Amino acid sequence: MESIKEFREQGHKMIDYLADYFEKIEQYPVKSQVKPGDVINMLPNMPPTNAESMKDIMSDFNDIILPGITHWQHPRFHAYFPANNSYPSVLAEILTSGLGVQAMIWETSPAAAELEELTLNWFKEMMQLPENWHGVIQDTASTATLVALLTAREKYSEFVINQQGYTNQKYRIYCSSQAHSSIDKAVKILGIGNENLVKIPVNQNFEMDVIALENQIIKDISNNYTPLFVVVALGTTGTVAIDSLDAIGKVANKYNCWMHVDAAYAGSAMILPEFRETIKGLEWADSFVFNPHKWLFTNFDASVYYVKDKDALINSFAILPAYLRTHTYGKVNDYRDWGIQLGRRFRALKLWFVLRSFGTDKLKEKLREHINLAKWFESKINSDPNFELLLPRSLNVVVFRAIHSLHPDEFNEKLVTKINKSGKMYLSHTIIDENYAIRMVIGNTRVTKSHVEQSWKQINETAEKVKSE
Ligand SMILES: Cc1ncc(COP(=O)(O)O)c(C=O)c1O
Repeated sequence: MESIKEFREQGHKMIDYLADYFEKIEQYPVKSQVKPGDVINMLPNMPPTNAESMKDIMSDFNDIILPGITHWQHPRFHAYFPANNSYPSVLAEILTSGLGVQAMIWETSPAAAELEELTLNWFKEMMQLPENWHGVIQDTASTATLVALLTAREKYSEFVINQQGYTNQKYRIYCSSQAHSSIDKAVKILGIGNENLVKIPVNQNFEMDVIALENQIIKDISNNYTPLFVVVALGTTGTVAIDSLDAIGKVANKYNCWMHVDAAYAGSAMILPEFRETIKGLEWADSFVFNPHKWLFTNFDASVYYVKDKDALINSFAILPAYLRTHTYGKVNDYRDWGIQLGRRFRALKLWFVLRSFGTDKLKEKLREHINLAKWFESKINSDPNFELLLPRSLNVVVFRAIHSLHPDEFNEKLVTKINKSGKMYLSHTIIDENYAIRMVIGNTRVTKSHVEQSWKQINETAEKVKSE
C-alpha cells in the first residue's frame, strides 16, 4: 500500500473494524481455543514476493490470526491482571505510530520529552507521591526494577562496578517469597547471583515478615555481605498482598539499603484517596514503579517509574557518544539516559489522552466500581457453603476455591479448565499454602455487574457439572 488515498480508505475501515470488534467482543471466546502450531501451520513459510492487498491480509487476519487471539479486552477476562485499554488510549496509539517518533532525546521530539515530564508530574499529584521524586516512562515494570537495581548497585559502589566490573562486592538483595519473578530476572541480568537474592518469609496475609528481614540483614552483615536492595511488594501477583512500606522502610534506612517499591498492579489504586491513605511510609522509597498498562485503561505498554536520586540514575546509564551531543544537553530531560534503551516510543501521548479524556474523577469512579464488584463477588463466595475464600479480598482481586472434601486441588483445576474451555470467561490460578486457588480479577474497562453475575453463575453451574462427572 503506497498511495495516501488507499491509506485513508483503509484507515477509516480499520477504525470501523475496531469499533465493530469492541461492539462484538463478547461473541469471541475469551481464551483462544487454538492448539500449538494451529496458527503457524496455516501460514506460508516464505514471505510474499509480490505486494498483497489489504483485503487479502485482513481476510487471513480474520480467518487465521483472530482465532489465535485471547481477548484481553473482553469484560469477562478475569485472569492474571488485566492489560486493559480504552478508546482514547487506542486513538493515541494510532497517532503515535503515525508520527513514528523516536523519543530518545529531547531534540528528537521536544514535545515527547516534555509531555513525559508533565504526565508523570500529573501522576505524582494524583497519587500524592513525594515531591522530590523524578519520573520516567519505562516499557514494563520488569525493566523498571532492573533499572532500579542497577542504579542502586552503582550508587552504593560509587559507580565503580560500571567501570571495573565486580571486584570483591558481596551484595544481598531482599524481597518476600511472594514477590514477582522480575526481581529474579534483574538479579540474573546484573550478575549478582541468585544465591544473593534472599526471599524473606511472609505472614499469614502473604506480607513480608519484617522481623525476619531485619534478622536476615543482621546475619548477612555478620557474614560480610552488603545489604544493597530491598523490594517492597505493593500488591503481589498471586494475591495482591501489600507489604508494610513503613516498617520495611525503617529497616532499609537503618541498614542503608536502597528501597524499591513494586506497585506494578496495585499502584493504580493510589489515585484513590481512601487507598492512598492506607499506604504509609512512601517517603522511605528510593524508587517506585506502577503499570498504567495494567489497571489504568492505557494499552500495553506503559510503565511509570519514579526515582528519588535522579543523578544516580543518570550517572548509572549515561553514555555520550559524539552523535548524541546536543546544545541542550544537561538543560532538558534526555530520557535515553534514564534507562536501558536508546530508542524510545512516545508513550506519554497515550497517558495524556487517557488522563484528559477520562479526567481524574472518572478514573477514580471506574476503579471504585471494580472494587465494589469484587466486594459483591466476595460476598457471594462467603455466603455459599460450596465455596471458600482463601484470603480476604484485596482491591478487585478475590482468591477462592470450591470446597471438595477429597481432592480439592484436582477439583478446582478441573473447574478452571472447564470454565476456560467454554470461552465465556477466563480465570487463572495461584498456589496458597500449597493449595490450588482460583483468582478472580475484576478490572476490565467494560466489565459491569451483569458480567460478574454471569461469571458467578457460570462458576456455580460448572462446579455442579464437574461434581457429577
Ligand atoms: C507485582 C508485579 N511486578 C512486576 C510485574 C511485571 O510487569 P511487566 O509485565 O510490566 O514487566 C508484574 C506482572 O504481572 C507484577 O504483577
